[in-house]
Amino acid sequence: MLGSINKKRKPEWLLAFIKNSQHVIANGDIYALRLYNAYQHQVMPSFSKELSDHDIYDVLSYLERETLFPKQIPDINNSVIVSARAEVVEGMQLFDQQCASCHSVVKENYGPALGSVTKRHSREWLIAFIKNSQKVIRSGDEYAIMLFNNFDKKVMVPMEFLSDGEINSILQYIEFASSSENPDAGVNGRKSITSFRKTSVVAPHMESPEKKHFFKGIFIFVAVAAALVHVILIVKLFRYLQG
Ligand code: HEC
Repeated sequence: MLGSINKKRKPEWLLAFIKNSQHVIANGDIYALRLYNAYQHQVMPSFSKELSDHDIYDVLSYLERETLFPKQIPDINNSVIVSARAEVVEGMQLFDQQCASCHSVVKENYGPALGSVTKRHSREWLIAFIKNSQKVIRSGDEYAIMLFNNFDKKVMVPMEFLSDGEINSILQYIEFASSSENPDAGVNGRKSITSFRKTSVVAPHMESPEKKHFFKGIFIFVAVAAALVHVILIVKLFRYLQG
């Protein structure tokens, strides 16, 4: 999920990754490598030819807006959650009590959108950050410092009273709410397994606008020709009947 992505990664990184993620991974970027492993080595297509830098920045601006003001109702359907595993249900309750005042899975609030966060960081990092984010920031963690600065140095309250087990439940809930198991994962998520497959198999450049316009043109031509033939026939019939 791409919520808050502009605040989680630097623009140069995003540009390089979208153009050719495999390059970034091959260069040993730890974040990219973790993501690649978490997504079972599925390859994101390269867009270095299809998209200019300008196009990519347009997409990123769109994501920034969409994260703050999603067009579709982004919240998770409770009836789906209720039928999920016990940890997920417990995690949802804890999330509602402790995190929801600042966070949503699909949308940026006071804090970043948390969609797919379990695939971006190790469990240990997440537990340490959730227990005491300021400690992680003070330890010099580059990512935590960048995020803190991008969120105008807003302080996430320490959650040391939560046990590792409780934090794990919260993370399982976040994972569930981010995944295709949840059909309502929202605009920033996959809406369903089918829509995910579609987007992953058909690269965006395959259905070019030129091709679409060509077929539209042919359709309009045939429709106009058929209409003309009808008009001629009606006129002829009219004349015939008249005399
Ligand atoms: C008072 C508001 C607030 C509360 C409550 C809060 N957070 Fe945060 N959280 C933030 C802010 C702000 C950030 C961005 C980093 C920063 O400013 O330190 C953040 C960052 C994070 C991150 C890092 C996200 C990323 O993509 O790297 C995680 C994970 C996180 N929070 C999880 C939680 C969880 C889980 C809870 C509930 C147990 C929680 N937060 C409660 C404000 C909050």
